[in-house]
Amino acid sequence: EVWNPNGKYRVISTKPMPGTRWINLLIEQDCRVEICTEKKTILSVEDIISLIGNKCDGVIGQLTEDWGETLFAALSRAGGKAFSNMAVGYNNVDVNAANKYGVAVGNTPGVLTETTAELAASLSLAAARRIVEADEFMRAGLYDGWLPHLFVGNLLKGQTVGVIGAGRIGSAYARMMVEGFKMNLIYYDLYQSTRLEKFVTAYGEFLKSNGEQPVHWKRASSMDEVLRQADVISLHPVLDKTTYHLINKESLATMKKEAILVNCSRGPVIDEVALVEHLKQNPMFRVGLDVFEDEPFMKPGLAEMKNAVIVPHIASASKWTREGMATLAALNVLGKIKGYPIWGDSNR
Ligand code: DGY
Repeated sequence: EVWNPNGKYRVISTKPMPGTRWINLLIEQDCRVEICTEKKTILSVEDIISLIGNKCDGVIGQLTEDWGETLFAALSRAGGKAFSNMAVGYNNVDVNAANKYGVAVGNTPGVLTETTAELAASLSLAAARRIVEADEFMRAGLYDGWLPHLFVGNLLKGQTVGVIGAGRIGSAYARMMVEGFKMNLIYYDLYQSTRLEKFVTAYGEFLKSNGEQPVHWKRASSMDEVLRQADVISLHPVLDKTTYHLINKESLATMKKEAILVNCSRGPVIDEVALVEHLKQNPMFRVGLDVFEDEPFMKPGLAEMKNAVIVPHIASASKWTREGMATLAALNVLGKIKGYPIWGDSNR
């Protein structure tokens, strides 16, 4: 699909993206916009090389694509100066290779913070209250009347929520769980960020002044402390060499037998084979997963586990956020072409 065929700058989007604002922004700045409408979900390196062709000023790509040495070399040969990943995570992008070929890299932080945190909260609740199991039970026509033991789950109020990685999304999630469900909080982050501390302190004061039960909170000195103490644990680290299989057989064994583990970050943060085994051995342990180790696949056995809620990498999938991500992604490419500042973490 081609917009503004006579535009001076050739910008490619490897996928159709929501809304039209991003297209208009590019057109207004004299770009020819080419959108790849290829049906297959994941484009290969070869597919993208042929999209880039001989002349391309910038590409908007997706987290499913492998942006390494080969693609940055091809983009640079075609005169390209910018690559924008339509995602906040950019573990699919080799930023060193991009630098080597003089291509600027952008990502889309900020616009997806609350939407992603809301999905982590939804998975926490769905796991705690066994919503998916109960839904399947109803649809199967198995409900034949109220029973005291039917789908008994966990009350979140007064329990402890644990957050690993208290950046933008982890902090937003923590706020939702503390404020919305009056959970106590324990969190661990490698970086010293005061944003969460400021919130919990102020919120504690607010509860006190209303004569309400305070919530307790703690910044843990190790990840293990969170794993041992929390009833619901949500993972929000970036994926890199240090966080690959952060959750493995040993760390799973550290958690409470009835804990809930939520992952809306990246699949390889969890050793999924070890997780399936743990779910089998511990039927009261539950997970809510948005991401998987080898997407789009799941490790054998996971789909059969009743104690797992599984959704297809949709944490940022609200209309507002996806349109915002598309807009930011377009602005990043435009920024480089036109010399405006580029938005995103990857070029800090
Ligand atoms: C991201 O942005 O990194 C998410 O995984 C998809 O929105």
